[in-house]
Amino acid sequence: MRLHEPRLPPGYRLYRFDRIGSTNEEAKRLARSGARGGSVVWALEQTKGHGRRGRPWVSPPGNLYLSLILHPRSPLGVAAQIGFVAALAVAESLPFPPEIPVSCKWPNDVLVCGRKISGILMESETGEDGRLATLVLGVGINGVSSPREAEFPATSIAEEGGGTPSPAALLEGFLARFDPAYRLWQEAGFPPIRARWLERAAFVGERIAVRLEKESLAGRFLDLDEEGALLLETDGKIRKISAGAVFPEKP
Ligand code: BTN
Repeated sequence: MRLHEPRLPPGYRLYRFDRIGSTNEEAKRLARSGARGGSVVWALEQTKGHGRRGRPWVSPPGNLYLSLILHPRSPLGVAAQIGFVAALAVAESLPFPPEIPVSCKWPNDVLVCGRKISGILMESETGEDGRLATLVLGVGINGVSSPREAEFPATSIAEEGGGTPSPAALLEGFLARFDPAYRLWQEAGFPPIRARWLERAAFVGERIAVRLEKESLAGRFLDLDEEGALLLETDGKIRKISAGAVFPEKP
């Protein structure tokens, strides 16, 4: 497929593949061999795309699959906030009119009309000082198709009436939003990102189920704390959750 070359913000560099196993795996390999921050691995199709919690990410041509190498030099705990920066950039870059609800589902998913349109997979490597040396930020956006079988109901831009933007246009749109939001996070920290994320947050104040690695919890999604953890009110107590998957509670 011949596509126009996407325009990238200054300082970014593109590694483009027609077909690859996983852009995250390629980005980790490149990072180990010295690729600098701002390197973007982009593939038109993935044969072994993967998602959070070891799930496959079905990756046919037509959707966006990219992995961005970052070297944030921040403590490991803080790096999770970059997922919120990225989810916000996805949400703000989608080509929908204001009446179509585009929301952010904790921690890093983006929903359109309540269905998942984008997922983010962050993988990190620490340096000898214990600080984060490399972060690979993998982003998938469903442009023209979405999986029928999924843990959370899925959709695509085309299915929601947003047209059929090319993967190149989605890539441009994402990076054009991500770059200034990432700079803002580096300069001002999490508060402005948290505020923008909360404006679009799904399920805040509502009853939810949270799947953790070994258990499931039910309760009310109270708030996002100052570090990015989900505050869940359950049996009169407040639990701080740093990793998990959120679902609306079944009636
Ligand atoms: C999730 O919601 O589970 C995260 C999905 C992340 C998918 C993207 S597609 C580009 C990059 N390469 C991968 O193998 N995964 C991420």
